[in-house]
Formats: sequence, C-alpha cells, structure tokens
Amino acid sequence: MADIAKLESELLAQIAAAPDEAALEALRVSALGKKGSVSELMKSLGTMSPEERKTQGPLLNGLRDAVTGAIAARKAALGDIALNARLASEAIDVSLPPRPESQGSVHPISQVLEEITLIFADMGFAVAEGPDIEYDDYNFTKLNIPPDHPARQMQDTFYVAPQGDESAHVLRTHTSPVQVRTMLNHQPPIRIISPGRTYRVDSDATHSPMFHQVEALVVDRGIHLGHLKWTVEEFCKAFFEIDTIELRARPSFFPFTEPSLEWDMRCDRSVPGQIKFGTGKDWLELGGSGMVHPRVLANCGIDPARYTGFAFGFGLDRMAMLKYGIPDIRSFFESDLRWLRHYGFAALDIPSLDGGLSR
Ligand code: PHE
Repeated sequence: MADIAKLESELLAQIAAAPDEAALEALRVSALGKKGSVSELMKSLGTMSPEERKTQGPLLNGLRDAVTGAIAARKAALGDIALNARLASEAIDVSLPPRPESQGSVHPISQVLEEITLIFADMGFAVAEGPDIEYDDYNFTKLNIPPDHPARQMQDTFYVAPQGDESAHVLRTHTSPVQVRTMLNHQPPIRIISPGRTYRVDSDATHSPMFHQVEALVVDRGIHLGHLKWTVEEFCKAFFEIDTIELRARPSFFPFTEPSLEWDMRCDRSVPGQIKFGTGKDWLELGGSGMVHPRVLANCGIDPARYTGFAFGFGLDRMAMLKYGIPDIRSFFESDLRWLRHYGFAALDIPSLDGGLSR
C-alpha cells in the first residue's frame, strides 16, 4: 500500500537525520511506542478481513522491522561519533618536548650502577642477577661457609622466617651468592658482574642496613691474579675518570677465595671535604677479592682441575660517595627531595664511555 511505503521512507529519513540519542528516542516513541504511528497501523490489523490481513500483515511487519533496524543502526553510529569526538578532545601529543620545569632526577646510586655496567660491558662482562631473599645455602654454605663457621657471625645477618619449603633463607649479606647461581647454571667461560642490594644489621654514617655491592666473577682456563689486578685497575681508572691511579693489595680472608686480597686506592684527603686520587698519603678501601676457592667451584659443578677464576665484591654506595662527594651513606635512602635535587642527575643525561660517564 502506498501510504505504508511513504510512511516508511519518511521515518527512515528522520531516523537517519536524528542529531543525537534524545532525538532518536523521541522518534522511536512516536513510531513504535504504544500510540506510535507504526503501532496504530499494527492495531488496525484486528479490524481487517482475513484476506486483507494476509496482504497487509507482512507489509506492516516489514515496516516495523525496517524502522526497528534503522533505529538500532543510527544508535550505533551516534555512539561512534560521540566516541570519536571524545578521543579527539582527550588526545595528548606525546611528541611534545617535556616542560623545562620537570623535577625528576636520577638517583646517584642508579647513575653509578649505570656507569659501572657500562664500563664492564665494554670489557665483555654480562650482567647477572639474584634475589634479595636468598637461600642460606647460596649465601653461605656453597660459598664454603658451613653452618657453624665463625664467618657467619662476621656478617650480621638478617634471617628470614621459613618460606614454606624446608630451606632456610636470609636477606643476602653480599652479592656473592650470584656467583653460585651463575656457576650452577653455566659452564666456563664465565664473565659476569652483578650489582645489587645487600643487607646487614648495621647503621651509622658509613653503614646502612641496606646497601649496594657490585660482584664480579671470571672463570676460565688459566685465569690468575694478574687478570684480577688488571681488571680492578682498568675499572677504577674508568670509574673515577683518571689515567693514573695507584692500587694496593692487602692480604685478607674470605672463605670463598684463596688467596684473598683487599684493594685500596691511593688518595689525598688533606684538604677537608675534598678527595684526590692517584696522589697523597691516604688509602681508600674498595672491597674484597680473590681467586675463587676450588671447593666453591666444585660445590657449583665446575671442575677445579680444569678451571680457575677470580671474583671481587666492591661497595657501590661507598664508590658513589667518593666520586660525587656525598658525606653520609644514610642520606642515599632518606628520599629527601632537596638532597635529590642537589645530588641527582638529569633524567635524559645517560652516561656513555665516549660522552663522559658522569656529566
Ligand atoms: N663478598 C665479600 C664481602 O661482602 C666480598 C668478596 C667478593 C670477596 C668476592 C671476595 C670475592 O665482603
């Protein structure tokens, strides 16, 4: 019937032009609501003769379906339009440069960690990691420190409540357990450093209960003390950015190295608040080292008859304090913004060997 077709084309045109969801809803009510134009026509079916109804029924059903479908389609389209408008209004231009007044800075420990990693990467060392909560076995026993060994008292250990399995855990007292983890998983040649957090029950101007060490481990055929000395020397020259340094090795003792040495660097502290390297009468302690004890190699599945190795563990915080003139180790971990602003490094000033490590 002509007026059904006409009504349909009118309604579809109005629906397609509905500017927003409210207008669309008003149109829906006016067509499909209880008293809507389409609903009224549907009601008229009841008054028709059976023949009329046979032809009119499908036409009216078609009209109702067409209008319902058009409303749903317009509703979806309006949703898309609204979403696109919102996305456009909330867009952020990530290519804009940062504002000059941005306040973030890189913590000196992060900076020093980056510098050390870079120096050793240049010498062909990989970076290895281990967890802060460590097996007692890896922190002590496999490093040739059995349960009743006096060296356990030397390191004022934080013990950790049982973790569910049978093994005892500690907060690692040094980064040396990463030696164990590395050797258990890799056969020589091994050349790694492992910077990270370490913990001991200790706190004063030069000791913090949480501090940082950097461990180095080299295991291969024919490794000897000369390799250790050269590596420590090259590292110190690169780190302190000076060409002439003087190192002193003192005999020491660690259960996991034999022989064991501690390294000091010549420096001048005669002017208060200043430190110069390479000259002077003072010595600065870097940390412990030695040739990996054959028993430690064997404990970790490496044949001590074929391989030898050296290791050292230096205090990272102390090196940062010396390089950047920071007097109190505890200030590293106080999160005082004024301190960070003073000692921090520009966030985008990434250290590099050719561009300069520290600036
Ligand atoms: N782990 C020792 C310490 O914390 C340092 C060390 C590392 C000594 C490697 C020898 C070899 O004091």
